[in-house]
Amino acid sequence: MKIRGARVLVLAGIAIAALALGSFAAGASGATVSGKLEIFSWWTAGGEADALQALFNVYQKQYPNVKIINATVAGGAGTNAKAVLKTRMLGGDPPDSFQVHAGHELIDTWVKAGKMESLTSLFVSQGWPKVMPHGLIDILSYQGQIWSVPVDIHRANLLWYNKKVFADAGLTPPTTFEAFFKDANALKAKGISPFVLGDKEGWEAGHAFETVLIGTLGPASYRGLWTGHTSWMGPKVAQALGTFKRMLSYANSDHAALTWDEAAQYIQSGKGGMQIMGDWEAGWFTSKSFTDYGWAPPPGNQGIYDTLSDSFGLPKGAKDRAAVMAWLTLLGSRTGQQTFNPPKGSICARTDCSATAFSPYQQWAMHQWATNTIVPSVIHGAAASEGWSTEYKDAIALFVTSGDVAATQKSLQKACVDAGVCK
Ligand code: GAL
Repeated sequence: MKIRGARVLVLAGIAIAALALGSFAAGASGATVSGKLEIFSWWTAGGEADALQALFNVYQKQYPNVKIINATVAGGAGTNAKAVLKTRMLGGDPPDSFQVHAGHELIDTWVKAGKMESLTSLFVSQGWPKVMPHGLIDILSYQGQIWSVPVDIHRANLLWYNKKVFADAGLTPPTTFEAFFKDANALKAKGISPFVLGDKEGWEAGHAFETVLIGTLGPASYRGLWTGHTSWMGPKVAQALGTFKRMLSYANSDHAALTWDEAAQYIQSGKGGMQIMGDWEAGWFTSKSFTDYGWAPPPGNQGIYDTLSDSFGLPKGAKDRAAVMAWLTLLGSRTGQQTFNPPKGSICARTDCSATAFSPYQQWAMHQWATNTIVPSVIHGAAASEGWSTEYKDAIALFVTSGDVAATQKSLQKACVDAGVCK
C-alpha cells in the first residue's frame, strides 16, 4: 500500500513536471531563449567535430539569440576531457551540459554522487520512452528516474580495411584469429602494415583488446567479466592476452606516436591493413571524402554488437537553464538525431529515424543493432565504473610494451577486486 502510494505520488510529480516542460518546449522556441549555452565534449576529430557542428547549426537556427560555447577538450574516448570535467564539476563550475557515456560512467560517476538533475519529465513530455529501446533507457536510469539524453548508438567492435588493398592482395576480412594472422602475413609480404594501431592516448589498445576478449570468450562470458560471473584468472583471458600479444607484433612501428584518427590514415592511404576501432572511424573517413573502406566484425565477433551510447545530461547548477533544456530537447528529437548521426558514423538512439540519409555502413549497422547480441563496451563507459575501466585501460596500455601475460592477467583481476566485483 505504502509503495503504491509513493508510486502514485512519483507519477503525479512526473505528470506535473511534464506539463511544465511541455509548455516550456512549446513556448520557449525561437527568439524567447537568449543568453549562452556551454556544451562540453571531446569531439574534435574529423567526423565527430562535424556532427557536433551540424547540431549546433540546427540549434542556432531555432534559437538565434543563444550564443553557443563549444567547450571541447581533445583526446579520444574522453581521455583528457573527463579529468577537466571532474575539476569543473567539483569546483562548482559545471558546463550547461556535457558528453557522458550511458551506463556506469553516467550513473556511478555523476548520478550517484548527486551531481545531476533528473530528466524523466523531459522524456515523458517528449514521448521518448516510446521511441527509444528499453535496454537503453534502463542504463540511463537510476532509482526510477532517467538521467541523460542519448544522442547516438555507437558500435565499438569493428575491423576497418581499405577495399582496394584487400582486393589487390586477394584477401577477405578474417572471421577467426587464425585467419587474421594469415591475412596479416599476406599483407606483410606486400610491404603493408598489417595491424594498424595508434595508441598515443592510452585507450586504443584497451579498445582493440575488448574485441579480442569478446571474440575469445563469447558474449555471455565476456559480460560475466563485468558482473563477477567469469573469472579474470581463467584460461580464456590468458588466451586472449596471448592472441593480442601476437597481433601487436604486426602493429605499425610508429603506433605509440599516433592517435586513432592519425592511425586511420594508414587505411585511407593504403599503407595499412586492418584497424580495430569504433564506428566514429566511418565518420572520420566521410570527413576525408574517403569511401573505399570496408568493415567487418573483428575475429569471433560475428553477431555481437559491442555497444556504447553518447548522452548529455543536466548538471545541477547549470547556469543557462532555458537554453540547455532546448538543447536536450533537440538532442532527443528525430531532427536532432537525423542531423547528428550521419556525419558521426553512429546510428540513432531513437528507433524511428529514416535510413535513407545514412551511409551503407550505417544501414548495415542498423540491421546488426536490431538482430545482434548486445554487449557493453568497457573502454567507452558502458560495462564498468570509471575507476575500473581506467585500471583496465592502464593494464592493457602497459601490456603493449611489457607483453607480460601473467602479470597483466593479475592486474586485470586486481582491477575487478578494486571495483568490489571480484573477491
Ligand atoms: C568515444 C565516444 C565517441 C567518439 C570516440 C573517439 O568514447 O563515445 O563518440 O568520440 O570516443 O573520440
